[in-house]
Amino acid sequence: MTRALIKGPVADAALPEVDMSTSLGGLALPAPILTASGCAASGRELDQFFDLTSIGAIVTKSIMLNPRSGRATPRMAETPSGMLNSIGLQGPGIDRFIEHDLAWLEERGARVIVSIAGGTVDEYGKLAARLRTVRSVAAIEVNISCPNVEDRGQVFACRAGSASDVVHAVRRHSDPRMPLFAKLSPDVTDIVEITDAVVRAGATGVSVINTVLGMVIDTDTMRPHLAGVTGGLSGPAIRPVAVRCIWQIRQAFPSLPIIGMGGVRSGKDALEFVLAGANAVSVGTAVFHDPSAPSRIQIELQRALGARGFRRFADAVGFAHRPADLPREEDPDEFDFISE
Ligand SMILES: Cc1cc2nc3c(=O)[nH]c(=O)nc-3n(C[C@H](O)[C@H](O)[C@H](O)COP(=O)(O)O)c2cc1C
Repeated sequence: MTRALIKGPVADAALPEVDMSTSLGGLALPAPILTASGCAASGRELDQFFDLTSIGAIVTKSIMLNPRSGRATPRMAETPSGMLNSIGLQGPGIDRFIEHDLAWLEERGARVIVSIAGGTVDEYGKLAARLRTVRSVAAIEVNISCPNVEDRGQVFACRAGSASDVVHAVRRHSDPRMPLFAKLSPDVTDIVEITDAVVRAGATGVSVINTVLGMVIDTDTMRPHLAGVTGGLSGPAIRPVAVRCIWQIRQAFPSLPIIGMGGVRSGKDALEFVLAGANAVSVGTAVFHDPSAPSRIQIELQRALGARGFRRFADAVGFAHRPADLPREEDPDEFDFISE
């Protein structure tokens, strides 16, 4: 297949020199833009639109132990500035994923962050153990926004105790050097409390935010639009919620690696996340309208950083937390305080 790498003014105009590398705990990436879990499967569909190795990493759709077909239809609804989905964790199961999808990504040379999900703490532990010997896994994202089948379907991420149990199990069964990111839900009273719990349990960092729980009622049928009744809201509508979560976590944990996501559609949106404190930014829903979005956004971000006088991406991480009257750049090392 011919690869239609992104072309046109966005890609062609000379790019300012900015060191776009980033560090997420033990994971060094040449660039800070990632795909968001669940919005690009395992990257195959995007391969015809841009070079998968040009962005920081591919974050794969959350994989479970066994194959699953997901929820009944309809499972998508358009909403103002966003979309609601209740796809459920459809997927081939861990064994087929490793043989088929991970092998393909490895062959392509892409850096891969594998997202895992389970219905019980034990399942998460088994998934981590299964991935332990797989060479091509750069990091694990632990999707804890799943119902805990052992606790009345309460979502793991919504309670500090269950969030901590999952991360603890994954840490115990993983290589001790494996970077682990707990993917948090914004549907909590205190995101800092949940972050604290997962960090204590061994998470290297956090990914924020998963979708926001929402609902649409069809005014013609006068019934819930989604077969699953509620669904996850994503897209630009949730961007301010994501920025607020990143900001609060960065304020409480000055050096914690944070992967930010939620409604990023442009380089300026990504810059907002970085200024709030994100060390990397994942692009999800935007990919459905524009499959080259991760690559385009990375180029736009580099341009936006250059236009604001940054020579290193890392210098912009958490910049909005600095008092407004501080001089910009008299000591470049000063900017490192939250960039690791
Ligand atoms: C269709 C769809 C499927 C998703 N599947 C997953 C998933 O499997 N695992 C996960 O952690 N997040 C999943 N998400 C959440 C996204 O990774 C992301 O956190 C969220 O959508 C916010 O980012 P966005 O507004 O850029 O999409 C999914 C989102 C959408 C829209």
